[in-house]
Amino acid sequence: MILQGKSTLITGAGSGIGRASAMRFHQGGAAVMCADIDGAAAEDTANHINQLGGRAESIRLDVTDRDGVIKSLHDTIDAFGKLDVLFNNAGVGSGPGWEATIKINLEGVYNGLYYGAELMAERGGGSIINTASILGLVGMTPFPGEPIVPIDYGVGAYQASKGAVVMLTRQFAVMYGGRGVRVNALAPGFIVTPMTALFREVPEAQKFLVDLHPMGRLGQPEEIANAAAFLASDQASFINGVILPVDGGYTAR
Ligand SMILES: NC(=O)c1ccc[n+]([C@@H]2O[C@H](COP(=O)([O-])OP(=O)(O)OC[C@H]3O[C@@H](n4cnc5c(N)ncnc54)[C@H](O)[C@@H]3O)[C@@H](O)[C@H]2O)c1
Repeated sequence: MILQGKSTLITGAGSGIGRASAMRFHQGGAAVMCADIDGAAAEDTANHINQLGGRAESIRLDVTDRDGVIKSLHDTIDAFGKLDVLFNNAGVGSGPGWEATIKINLEGVYNGLYYGAELMAERGGGSIINTASILGLVGMTPFPGEPIVPIDYGVGAYQASKGAVVMLTRQFAVMYGGRGVRVNALAPGFIVTPMTALFREVPEAQKFLVDLHPMGRLGQPEEIANAAAFLASDQASFINGVILPVDGGYTAR
C-alpha cells in the first residue's frame, strides 16, 4: 500500500502501461483519475477499479489540448480533494508521422509538466512521472531487411520525441525539486501492449526484438506499472530527475 491516500492522474490509462498502472496505483491504495483520448477505454479502466472496491473516475483527454490538460488536473483535485501524482504516460508509436508523433509524445508530456508541476508546487508538492523509452536513450537497431533509405517521412520521430521527454524530465526536476515536486521518467524496453502488437505478430520480428533484451523476453505492462508506483510513492522521496530504464538490460550493452 505504498500509495495509500494518494490522489493520482494517469494519461493513456485506457490501455497497456497506463491501464496496468491504474490498476497498480489502485492496489497501492491510491485514488485514480483515468484519462485517455479514448474516453470509453478510460471509463472501462475506472469501472474495473471501482468494481474491485477502489476509487476511480475517468475523463476523455487529448493530451495535446492544453485546456483539456488543465481541466483534467483540476478535475482530479475536485474528485479526490488534491493531486499527489501525475503520470504523463499517453503516447503513440511513430506510425502517425512526424508532426503527430512529436505533438502527442512531446507536447503532450510538456503540457502535463508545464501545468502540472506548477499546480503541484503551489499546493505543496508531488511526484510526476513521464513515460520516455529506451528509444529516447539509444538508437534502434534496424529490423533485418529494413530499407536504409527511410520510406516514411517521420522515421526517428518517436526517438526524437522520447529523447526530448528525457531532457524535459531533467529540466523540470531541476526547476521544481526545490518546491517539492519530484520529476522522473521511465524508459521501458519493448513491452507487450497493443502498441507493439504489429511487431509481435511476425515471428521473425518478435524474435529480433526479444534478442535485443539480455533477459531474453519482452516486458509486461505490470513491470512498468510497478516501477511507476515506486517513483510515485514516498519510498522514492529523494529520487528526482532520474531516467529509470525498465528494459531487461536492453540499454546495458
Ligand atoms: N509498448 C512499448 O513497448 C513501449 C516502450 C517504451 C515506451 N512506451 C511508451 O509507453 C506509453 C504507453 O504505451 P503503451 O505501450 O501502453 O501503448 P498503448 O497503445 O497500449 O496505450 C497508449 C494509450 O494512450 C492513449 N493515447 C494516445 N494518444 C493520446 C492522446 N493524444 N491523448 C490521450 N491519450 C492518448 C491511447 O488511446 C492508449 O489508450 C507511451 O508513451 C509509449 O510511447 C511503450
